Amino acid sequence: MKDNNSKLIEDAKLSLKNAQARYSNFRVGAALQTEDNKVFTGCNIESSSYSLTICAERVALVKALSEGHTKFSTIAIYAERTDFCPPCGACRQLLFDYAPDLEVILTDGKESKTYKLRDLLPVAFEESQLNKK
Ligand code: THU
Repeated sequence: MKDNNSKLIEDAKLSLKNAQARYSNFRVGAALQTEDNKVFTGCNIESSSYSLTICAERVALVKALSEGHTKFSTIAIYAERTDFCPPCGACRQLLFDYAPDLEVILTDGKESKTYKLRDLLPVAFEESQLNKK
């Protein structure tokens, strides 16, 4: 594990404290690191209209993008009620759109597993398809 990843993992763990997860009671935290080593955190925000819920990963991503940060290296994800919480399909797609080479760290707080986003979303739909033909 890279030294600076232990801080990122800690940031993911801490960020779930603000989760709004009253419907699922499943709190998730994410910490997204930019290429210049800034960190944007996110937690899941649920809605009574369930499908409007936003995952921790997308909250972290839109926070960063909305503040002008567009280059990302790593995301750490932590959920308190499961060991290694993989990002959902919607999050994989949105993260891929902005950071196809992202490293994804799933952590249970003690151990972590690291993946390439590309491996988590094979044969991804991407921008280049929009311009073909
Ligand atoms: N959730 C996340 O925030 N990230 C994930 O990687 C998986 C799921 C949230 C969405 C919802 O608020 C709750 O976890 C249960 O699905």
